[in-house]
Amino acid sequence: MPRLVLDQVSVCYDGQARPAVERASIDVASGDFVVLVGRSGCGKTSLLNVAAGLVKPAGGSVTVDGTPIIAPDADRAVVFQNDALFPWLTARENVAFALRLRGVRPSERERRADALLALVKLEGSGERRIWELSGGMRQRVGLARALAAEPQFLLLDEPLGALDALTRERMQTTLLDIWKASRVAVLMVTHGIEEALVLGTRIVVLAPGPGRVVRTFETGFSRRYLAGEPLRDIKADPAFAAARGELTDAIFEGEAA
Ligand SMILES: Nc1ncnc2c1ncn2[C@@H]1O[C@H](COP(=O)(O)OP(=O)(O)O)[C@@H](O)[C@H]1O
Ligand SMILES: [Mg+2]
Repeated sequence: MPRLVLDQVSVCYDGQARPAVERASIDVASGDFVVLVGRSGCGKTSLLNVAAGLVKPAGGSVTVDGTPIIAPDADRAVVFQNDALFPWLTARENVAFALRLRGVRPSERERRADALLALVKLEGSGERRIWELSGGMRQRVGLARALAAEPQFLLLDEPLGALDALTRERMQTTLLDIWKASRVAVLMVTHGIEEALVLGTRIVVLAPGPGRVVRTFETGFSRRYLAGEPLRDIKADPAFAAARGELTDAIFEGEAA
């Protein structure tokens, strides 16, 4: 069972007096949807980049199944907020490009690309060029492209942050459907409190100055959605409101008034 472990990870940037992150531990195994939340500057992006292998920790260790991560690899696909797709190519060609990089034969690429576009609910849009697509649809293409590598882990940095509220809600359920269908383990950064509760099986709360883990919540709302309960009903559950209050308190605890 694939397992990504950040153990007591510290991150220091050149020219910064104090560490950006100090001794943060995060564990992501298959079946998990781990969400990182916290105020701006608390080190969420830094930790995601450590997991991706883009930033080297100053202390602690980062491993996949016990093997140290030293560089980006196809087992960990990253999607950023404003991810660069090729605007002059079609949705299908953007996904097919990732398949080509993986060495998938030309005859196979189109079929596989269409299957991935169907997974992100873009069936029928393969022929459209990126510049013709809405922000939400582009983000779906970005996810399909990331999944083309058949990663064990999907690392997402505020992937829905640039979307309007309605599109964002729809993308949340799409993400859960993808998570279920692809069995990929997810580590995702968000600053949305409801979003964290809707998506996460575990929510890790970070605080700034230096960035550190202050709370971890195990949550079950996303599994309830996948078991068939409508998201509306889940959000109307008093347990959801209580969790939202508790999470909000944890995020803003210790903040100067
Ligand atoms: N490349 C960098 N060089 C120097 N400082 C950085 C760099 N990236 C982030 N930082 C600093 O590290 C801290 C954590 O940043 P970041 O990980 O981006 O937090 P978040 O994503 O939670 O907003 C901030 O104080 C930020 O200014
Ligand atoms: Mg960030």
